[in-house]
Amino acid sequence: MSKMIFTADGVTKKFGGVTALDSVSMKIPKDSIFGLIGPNGAGKTTFFNTLTGLYQVDGGNFTFDDKPLNVKAPHEVAEVGIARTFQNIRLFGEMSVLENVMVGRHVRTKAGAFGAIFRPPSVRREEAETEARSRELLAYVGLERRAGEKSRTLAYGEQRRLEIARALATDPKLIALDEPAAGMNATETVELRKLIERIAKDGKTVLLIEHDMRLVMNVCHHIVVLDYGKKIADGTPAHIQKDAAVIKAYLGGAHGETK
Ligand SMILES: Nc1ncnc2c1ncn2[C@@H]1O[C@H](COP(=O)(O)OP(=O)(O)O)[C@@H](O)[C@H]1O
Ligand SMILES: [Mg+2]
Repeated sequence: MSKMIFTADGVTKKFGGVTALDSVSMKIPKDSIFGLIGPNGAGKTTFFNTLTGLYQVDGGNFTFDDKPLNVKAPHEVAEVGIARTFQNIRLFGEMSVLENVMVGRHVRTKAGAFGAIFRPPSVRREEAETEARSRELLAYVGLERRAGEKSRTLAYGEQRRLEIARALATDPKLIALDEPAAGMNATETVELRKLIERIAKDGKTVLLIEHDMRLVMNVCHHIVVLDYGKKIADGTPAHIQKDAAVIKAYLGGAHGETK
């Protein structure tokens, strides 16, 4: 059996009367592309929010890299080696494309507030390295020529790729993408697929929430399906496509999204 980078065991999260996650368990093999799908409101984003420390769980636990994962705040999750993007893009619109990536990189630098203000030579050297690495990442996602522009001027698909570059800037072992193809056209989605495959080939594990079923079925090695907070299926794309409970969840529910 391949090595697991991440596990969830019985994870439960409630919001008032809504059980957004109902004892959800999964095991994510290292270096795989792992899909998390389900109709709107199934609990996918909540799963990301709990594993990244934005919300605390009401039950269950996570492991990451064979150790208990118990982050109390979002900045801690980057330090352990997990990065994410957001369903609703979160970029600094007035900052340049390059600066947005450099912000991500700063969790891996030592300077801190003192260094940022007084800028001793060690800090200037570190800044130069941060910039060089950030430019490499822009090239990796195909945005190197846009480095100097304000991020708000980018097209939607480009902003999504910039968010991925910023997430990669933290040197994560696991990168969690929340609907990265949303708002992308067919060409952009093909590029995104290649990018996701390259990230996995370069030795990172990808956890993908996505509504574009073609993308999910083509790119994922393994898929977990949530519906109303419960895991209803777990398997390969071929297995998931034939699963009666999955078909019912996608076709049957008034809450369903069938794209
Ligand atoms: N911060 C929150 N406060 C209250 N309810 C929430 C919150 N976040 C999510 N929910 C609820 O939890 C359920 C799952 O939502 P979500 O995780 O966003 O689903 P998905 O990403 O699969 O569409 C929904 O019923 C949603 O309304
Ligand atoms: Mg969501």
